[in-house]
Amino acid sequence: MTAKIIDGRAIATQIRTDLQQKILLLSTKPKLAIILVGNDDSSLIYVRNKQKAAAQIGMKTQLYHLEENTKETDLLQLIRQCNDDSSVNGIIVQLPLPEHINTNRVINAISPLKDVDGFNPYNTGMLQNNEKPYFIAATPLGIMTLIESVCSDLCGKNVVIIGASLIVGRPLATLLLNQECTVTITHIHTRDIKELTRKADILVAACGVAGLVKNDWIKTDSILIDVGINREKGKICGDIDFESVAASAAAITPVPGGVGPMTIAMLLQNTVDAYFLQHNL
Ligand code: GUN
Repeated sequence: MTAKIIDGRAIATQIRTDLQQKILLLSTKPKLAIILVGNDDSSLIYVRNKQKAAAQIGMKTQLYHLEENTKETDLLQLIRQCNDDSSVNGIIVQLPLPEHINTNRVINAISPLKDVDGFNPYNTGMLQNNEKPYFIAATPLGIMTLIESVCSDLCGKNVVIIGASLIVGRPLATLLLNQECTVTITHIHTRDIKELTRKADILVAACGVAGLVKNDWIKTDSILIDVGINREKGKICGDIDFESVAASAAAITPVPGGVGPMTIAMLLQNTVDAYFLQHNL
């Protein structure tokens, strides 16, 4: 075992403590509206964790838990109401949504100024243009902080991201490109994937396949970021086979305790930023 463990839990705890101190000084408290449609098991857990983490730092949350069969028009109406409510600073709609609802139309309806998930096309477009968006998606933002904790100069690094999702792979690729990395995104149709991953100075696995990345997938002394949260035989494990790669990598994020805690910390950070933005502070 030579790889340095990148302790996402410790970094996230520090961020949350700093946010708590900031909120203590405010006369009114930042508020996050969380919209959940239906009863997806993972979404229920994620939403509960977000509410708990917000409460711990003195942030308010308002949960709108809607029925699975909610009409899209009613959901859009609720989003407009939250957009217009000056006591609400941030709005998130937990994904995935039920199939009868058009996710893009819903995300498009969130005011870019309250879009603390950073999914609205205004915010993703600004990121693409290498301009400053109001908000950047929490998981990619958290991953950038983790990478920067072990790599001070990203310029020219070869990065491979396994997984082209809208929530992780694509925005992360843009963030890294904006930092002058050479970025490859792989997906289900990518050929000879190992040929690509073996050249990666930084490898990010975000595909949701337990233990996919083994030692023969990686470059010696590379930085490995594991975004996977897979449940196997009652245990949580990542997309990277930790035991297999630990002797060859320079640094690796554990699962749990790596990327996961950073995602919530960054959502809280975005919501505090939204409060300051809306109060012209
Ligand atoms: N589902 C999985 N990840 C996320 C996320 O970061 N935000 C929202 N809203 N839904 C998700």
